[in-house]
Amino acid sequence: MRVGIIGFGGMGRVVCRVLLEQGHDANIEIAGVIVSAEDYKEAEKYNTMNIPLLDSFEDLMRQKPDVIAECAGHDAVRQYGHEVLSAGISLLVISIGALAEESLYEQLRETAKLNDASVYLPAGAVGGIDALTAARLAGLQKVTYRGRKPALAWRGTPAEETLDLTGLYKAECFYSGSARDAALAFPRNSNVAATVALAGLGFDETRVELLADPDISENMHELEVEAISGNFQVSLSGIPLDDSPKTSALAAYSVAKCLLDMNTAVII
Ligand SMILES: NC(=O)c1ccc[n+]([C@@H]2O[C@H](COP(=O)([O-])OP(=O)(O)OC[C@H]3O[C@@H](n4cnc5c(N)ncnc54)[C@H](O)[C@@H]3O)[C@@H](O)[C@H]2O)c1
Repeated sequence: MRVGIIGFGGMGRVVCRVLLEQGHDANIEIAGVIVSAEDYKEAEKYNTMNIPLLDSFEDLMRQKPDVIAECAGHDAVRQYGHEVLSAGISLLVISIGALAEESLYEQLRETAKLNDASVYLPAGAVGGIDALTAARLAGLQKVTYRGRKPALAWRGTPAEETLDLTGLYKAECFYSGSARDAALAFPRNSNVAATVALAGLGFDETRVELLADPDISENMHELEVEAISGNFQVSLSGIPLDDSPKTSALAAYSVAKCLLDMNTAVII
């Protein structure tokens, strides 16, 4: 299976390394990675794996990938998603917050259906998505996602309008509302809330609480689910990638796992 990747930042590099080291059973080959012009020099420095670095989307399409994984950001989903799926190539999206934009979500869904392709949404930084999607089939009653980050990690977001982030002495909730409004107000922090929403009750019915916590050093993701099949809670603390401190390492590994699963005999 030939995999194309958009983005060679912290996440893209981990995905490439895992595919090269652990992708033999799944018969995975990296067709190429799109690197933006301004990142090219930096990317070459990191490319000890001799991965084909490409400077355009057209070049990647010429390599005839079977699937393309976005590891670049919300704009890349908007920029390339439709074209990838229109060519009948499946698309993995990890910047899932982009799909809070309903028109984009519907466009990608329709294009995938029309062209016999799929949109893959890995669990990313959060745990329990397998249980949530299974419980949805039985019937969900209430889904709450609580995102807790070190106080200063919320600098540069609207959290600063309600909290003095440098003077906190205990955890404070600065947002409580729907996943849709959370995604609009905090676009750079919306990936996990959007994943929970799409896996469960949707953007309008999924509750989101965002907290600034001066007592933690890692991002915490908490999921609380009430369902006909039983209730559950999942709590996860994410270690960031060394060279991309905003990204949980688990999110990168979940992209690699999703790609490996696409061509593996036994899938768990
Ligand atoms: N779903 C989740 O739980 C989750 C968790 C963490 C990160 N993410 C997403 O993963 C993305 C990648 O994370 P990262 O740590 O690698 O970020 P990063 O900033 O280290 O790397 C992103 C790279 O993509 C490149 N890029 C951006 N737009 C591009 C485009 N249009 N074409 C080609 N390259 C482009 C950038 O130049 C950069 O090199 C984040 O933007 C975020 O949206 C999702």
